[in-house]
Amino acid sequence: MKKDVIIALDFPTREETLQFLDKFQDEKPFVKICMELFYAQGPAIVREIKARGHRIFLDLKLHDIPNTVQRAMAALRDLNVDMVNLHAAGGSEMMRGALAGLTRPDGTRPLLIAVTQLTSTDAKTLKEELLIDVPMAETVMCYAENAAHCGLDGVVCSPLEAKAVKERCGSGFVTVTPGIRFAGGDSGDQKRIMTPASAAENGCDYLVMGRPITKAEDPVAAYRRALQDFMDAE
Ligand code: C5P
Repeated sequence: MKKDVIIALDFPTREETLQFLDKFQDEKPFVKICMELFYAQGPAIVREIKARGHRIFLDLKLHDIPNTVQRAMAALRDLNVDMVNLHAAGGSEMMRGALAGLTRPDGTRPLLIAVTQLTSTDAKTLKEELLIDVPMAETVMCYAENAAHCGLDGVVCSPLEAKAVKERCGSGFVTVTPGIRFAGGDSGDQKRIMTPASAAENGCDYLVMGRPITKAEDPVAAYRRALQDFMDAE
């Protein structure tokens, strides 16, 4: 299983994004491009970052009818990104359509990762607005299992959920986990956090880290520290 640290490029402009990436001279980190940057800059920003040699997680969280998602995924496949995602709530037919759309003629494709329940959805919203009567953890696991049955590669989840996801969906089912902080660091608005080393021990495959790296005094050193803590703890 390939493990890595993915830097969340949560910058509003192309200039700030590229200025940040310019700091990395000796390595080409795996990076995450969010909706904000993609919708503002379009596919050109993806091509530009890809041309610099970075692997890209395009975090667009697709959710629509199966045919539309399949065609949208075919467009993302042609951007040559390495990881994309969708909402498992779109259902099995949509997830299978997404896989079909993403698969290149030679059979290869980017990793396809499902979002289960957004962390911004709380128990009250789940029950009163989405009319889902089972506990949050149960819907998360059910969506993860649906994704695994459809042949998706993994889920985005809290590092605290990674072990349970692996137990339920298999050790090869990939866990992509935000909410990572260095020991003693500022947790910001993340509530359920883990250090890179604990995340490794808990079965996380890809750590998504934004502010602990992007806002660090020395982002390259912070990235190297995260990578080393994560890899050494395996
Ligand atoms: O700055 P920080 O390390 O908290 O950034 C984490 C990244 O992961 C951000 O891009 C954030 O939007 C994303 N994310 C998250 N929690 C989720 C899903 C995605 O923090 N449940």
